[in-house]
Amino acid sequence: MEKQIVTPKRSLTTETEKLLNNQVGKEASSSSAYLSMASWCEKSGYANAAEFLYRHSDEERMHMLKLFRYINDAGGHALQPAIKDIRHEYKSLRDVFEQVLEHEIRVTESINNIVDHCFTIKDFATFQFLQWYVTEQREEETLARRALELFDIIGEDGVGLWTIDQELGKLESFVQDGGAEQA
Ligand code: FEO
Repeated sequence: MEKQIVTPKRSLTTETEKLLNNQVGKEASSSSAYLSMASWCEKSGYANAAEFLYRHSDEERMHMLKLFRYINDAGGHALQPAIKDIRHEYKSLRDVFEQVLEHEIRVTESINNIVDHCFTIKDFATFQFLQWYVTEQREEETLARRALELFDIIGEDGVGLWTIDQELGKLESFVQDGGAEQA
């Protein structure tokens, strides 16, 4: 007979567990979407944009794992999500980065909803854990907006797209150096 494992008591509520697992799905979906975008950029000749997106795909997987481990550490059950509806084709390089910004805004809304929920039910441990995501989302939205600005500032005609691709490869250092704070 299979041995029964006694479920220890925990302070994580079922509702919070469900919201966190839902966020695991969003981070996994982000990782897959950025991987698909990286592939499109690479085969379209935008090597620096591709590298940027490959790195971001890895980062999103790290975001997913951080949540995954937290759920289990808090006594819940982290669930491997199914990834659906990944887009493989894009109209242009600009289209790719428009999707990145829209995607990040949706993720921020989702994080904010969970933070709000945790505060309301006084789950301050999860509330505190999620502050890392709050900061991260602000940085990622800044990065995506900055990427889109490049298209307007540089322009896409002539060598414009080539130059934009070069600049996309330097974007992370812009945010890390505090450029976003100063802009
Ligand atoms: Fe982890 Fe950019 O959402």
